[in-house]
Amino acid sequence: EGPTVLILPGEGIGPEVVHVARDILEHVLDRAGLDAAISEHAVGRPAYERTGQWLPDPVRDKLDKAAATPCGAVLFGATADEPIGELRSRYDLFANLRPARPLPALRAVSPLRPERLEGVDLLIVRELVSDVYYGRRRTGTDAGRRWAGQEMYYREDEIRRILRCAFQHAEARRRHLTLVHKANAIPDVFGLWLDVLAEERPAHPHVEVQEMFADTMAMELVLRPADFDVIVTSNLFGDLLSEITGAVLGSLGLLPSATLSPTGFALYEPVGGTAPDIAGTGRANPLGTIGSVELMLRHTFDAPRWADLLAAAVARAVESWRTPDIAGPEDKPCTTEEMGAAVREAFDTL
Ligand code: NAI
Repeated sequence: EGPTVLILPGEGIGPEVVHVARDILEHVLDRAGLDAAISEHAVGRPAYERTGQWLPDPVRDKLDKAAATPCGAVLFGATADEPIGELRSRYDLFANLRPARPLPALRAVSPLRPERLEGVDLLIVRELVSDVYYGRRRTGTDAGRRWAGQEMYYREDEIRRILRCAFQHAEARRRHLTLVHKANAIPDVFGLWLDVLAEERPAHPHVEVQEMFADTMAMELVLRPADFDVIVTSNLFGDLLSEITGAVLGSLGLLPSATLSPTGFALYEPVGGTAPDIAGTGRANPLGTIGSVELMLRHTFDAPRWADLLAAAVARAVESWRTPDIAGPEDKPCTTEEMGAAVREAFDTL
């Protein structure tokens, strides 16, 4: 009995990229001789149109069951805000891992000079279920002027668990951790982050720790991305910094993510959204979703060898095949499906 994998394509380009990524997942599992119970379900707009619910009850039941197994996982495409926020808080998907490593064949796609891209290998660890996004909201009128507020809020245990997760990854990587904060302007919230960091540090004597203001980090990610290993931060800053990382690599469509809960239940999805500007045109890049399958093979299936092989297949495929977002002026762009087929073919020759 292998892991339970629920495939939730969603809407926009979600179904297009997930179709390709599912095909590759099944292909890899087949070749690896790994078992999984895979099922696919509508969420978001297609579900709403049919059932009146963004996340239909039967799908929620399936998710509850999968979340209760030792290794349940979701492969998610994209939806407009509903229902991804609900999934994140319902299953306490608190640790969002966003690795970013440039593919050698795609150096020219990055807006950065090639020497700045040399050696870039980042992991952004973003807290995902707290911060201002989930803070208390208030609006009112004062002397005829409207006002609005939304509270930035973090509990000590929420900070501690994301820092522990980041330390663990730093131990397994290049042992360098950067905490991104804004304690100068937001002293209570980020003062607490720094306090908890100081408490957690002694347990990881081999990890070199650095702290950096979020505004400085935004600049450094563009100027010196190779200087960082694991970057850990709050929900809001992680949101912004991972988008910058997407730009540094050349396309948002390249970036995968894994979001882990305390029980091991995990959700894998590309970093981008529904991309309404290109949905339905076959122009979507499936590599962020295929990269999310790679992360699933690593974390949920504990099959690092097969994950490495899939990563190698992607690196090989982009030597000759490019969707429009990563195509150079000389390249003839390919479709989402053609990119998937190229990865599959490369995988079979490795
Ligand atoms: P977006 O990520 O959908 O698109 C931003 C830009 O990146 C667009 O030009 C798009 O064409 C491009 N892009 C994104 N993914 C791509 C891919 N795989 N291949 C090629 N190009 C790609 O962000 P946007 O337009 O701000 O949001 C659209 C909708 O998606 C919104 O409703 C938003 O709430 C939702 N969204 C959902 C997410 C999720 O389901 N986890 C994450 C981010 C946004």
